[in-house]
Amino acid sequence: MADAPVASLPKGLAAFDLAGHVALVTGASSGIGRSFARAIVDAGGKVVMAARREERLQEMVGELGAENAAYVVADVGDLDSLPAMAAAARKPFGDPDIVVNVAGNTVRKAAEDLSPAEFLAVIQVQLMAPLHVAQQFHPAMKAKGWGRIINIGSITTSHALPGTTAYAACKSGVAGLTRAMAKDWGPDGITANAICPGFFPTELTQPVVNDAKRWQNNADRTFLGRNGVTEDMHGALIMLCSEAGRYMSGQMIYVDAGFTAN
Ligand SMILES: NC(=O)c1ccc[n+]([C@@H]2O[C@H](COP(=O)([O-])OP(=O)(O)OC[C@H]3O[C@@H](n4cnc5c(N)ncnc54)[C@H](OP(=O)(O)O)[C@@H]3O)[C@@H](O)[C@H]2O)c1
Repeated sequence: MADAPVASLPKGLAAFDLAGHVALVTGASSGIGRSFARAIVDAGGKVVMAARREERLQEMVGELGAENAAYVVADVGDLDSLPAMAAAARKPFGDPDIVVNVAGNTVRKAAEDLSPAEFLAVIQVQLMAPLHVAQQFHPAMKAKGWGRIINIGSITTSHALPGTTAYAACKSGVAGLTRAMAKDWGPDGITANAICPGFFPTELTQPVVNDAKRWQNNADRTFLGRNGVTEDMHGALIMLCSEAGRYMSGQMIYVDAGFTAN
């Protein structure tokens, strides 16, 4: 059977242009999510940001402009609230056709000390929310025949780090989840991939940053000899969100300067 004809790719940087696209970015009130929301607007897209701290989100809309950015206050770990979150997220710019699941938490405890409630709290935000948030927007993406899901993995997607039992279980799970979403939704024209960051200074990693020796060890383990700044991930993000990444799906993209290859 002959392959179906494929539209030609826009030339040069136009393949990375997000004009006409709307992204929902969870966890956009700080760190990586905040940086990703900016990158999407810089690439011509519109962004709806979701997190719990409203004043941070308001600040971001002020920075990015209300013509480009809006927010919904949401606890993505409260899975029953997601249909209402999605309804609010559609209001400013229409249905998002890109979902970037960045919201994340952790409990830093040795494996012998982790309680079931602590484990569950991480699972709900880090593993269940990426699916159930994306599900809200799947029907519209399917109807359009185009969609992008970007999840966030970690070095713990493939490597052990101390005190990360719940986190590592979820981030390893993100790999399976991303591949399964990519398979089920591929026929609908939707790609699903995960960015797996190395070490980036954010609120979440503050305890690691504060341990100067450990932070330096992490930098030394990379091929470039430094930890990341969130802008280091923008290239991968925009590729995965745009036409440029249209033939990539089910992949874990490590943006870690070789940490996991070393
Ligand atoms: N920084 C790194 O080196 C690194 C490395 C690998 C992976 N990651 C992953 O990257 C993602 C972002 O982390 P980050 O480093 O940018 O940390 P961060 O600065 O602490 O940001 C976490 C974000 O998640 C949001 N969030 C947490 N729980 C939420 C909930 N229940 N509902 C809605 N939003 C929630 C927070 O917003 P509110 O508190 O306002 O709700 C915040 O915007 C996480 O998945 C993390 O595991 C980070």
